[in-house]
Amino acid sequence: MNHVIVSRHASVLELRLDRPAKKNALTFAMYDALSSALESGANDADVRAVVITASGDVFCAGNDIADFLNPNVAVAGPPPPFRFMQAIASFPKPIVAAVGGAAVGIGATLLLHCDLVYAGAEARLSMPFVSLGLTPEAASTLLLPQRVGHAVASEMLLLGAQIDAARAKELGLVNEIVPSPRDVALEKAAIIAERSPRAIRVTKELLRRVDPTHVMPRLEEEARHIAEGLASAEGQQALMAFFERRTPSFA
Ligand code: COA
Repeated sequence: MNHVIVSRHASVLELRLDRPAKKNALTFAMYDALSSALESGANDADVRAVVITASGDVFCAGNDIADFLNPNVAVAGPPPPFRFMQAIASFPKPIVAAVGGAAVGIGATLLLHCDLVYAGAEARLSMPFVSLGLTPEAASTLLLPQRVGHAVASEMLLLGAQIDAARAKELGLVNEIVPSPRDVALEKAAIIAERSPRAIRVTKELLRRVDPTHVMPRLEEEARHIAEGLASAEGQQALMAFFERRTPSFA
């Protein structure tokens, strides 16, 4: 069981994170399931838009911290989180996210690669990498300051500040705060799916072309720093602290 439910609503592909007992923290198997769905959806002419949703009261608690602590998780090819980040960053069709509750770590940074984001009033975004002795991912060091400016990006990435739904909307990280984010996300995706696929693809490509040569190299550079952080004593003790329900010390 990989805890990702893939379903189709006409030409809309829904990817539902379904590990509510662990607040939808992403395991390597979940990253692989998401990547495979995106990779095949990219090449399937019948898929015209993707919606990312989640079960339970938290959208996604980020990377599964147990996987971070397990250096023996077998990986063939690119590490599953990196494969997912590449798949979502290069996905050629619109992605609409429905965020209920907390979106933490990759749960928040993946939203930077979505084209529309609908959130519940209880949604909150945080990217607390440095609190875990780690560094940001998903090209968030490039995309977040572009979206919200250097000051807010520093607040989120250096202080690990949590942004509530109202502020996320003000900042342009969320399109609308709605009572039922999944229903609205599916509705917007269905509208997109009725439009000309060529016009939608070209428009998304132009909107995203901040500088296409920058995103992938930044993903790779960040991934090298994360690997160093995971191997470091600082990183390991901070990750252990999460399961011991204590604040890590970097003294
Ligand atoms: N990795 C692994 N397990 C996680 C997890 C993660 N990222 N986030 C939550 N869980 C697990 C908890 O260990 C707990 O497991 P248990 O029931 O076996 O003890 C379960 O999910 C519920 O978590 P809990 O913290 O009790 O839920 P909550 O509703 O009080 O808080 C969050 C929800 C998302 C705010 C909180 O779980 C959290 O902050 N998670 C860590 C997020 C994080 O730092 N992610 C960054 C990774 S880069």
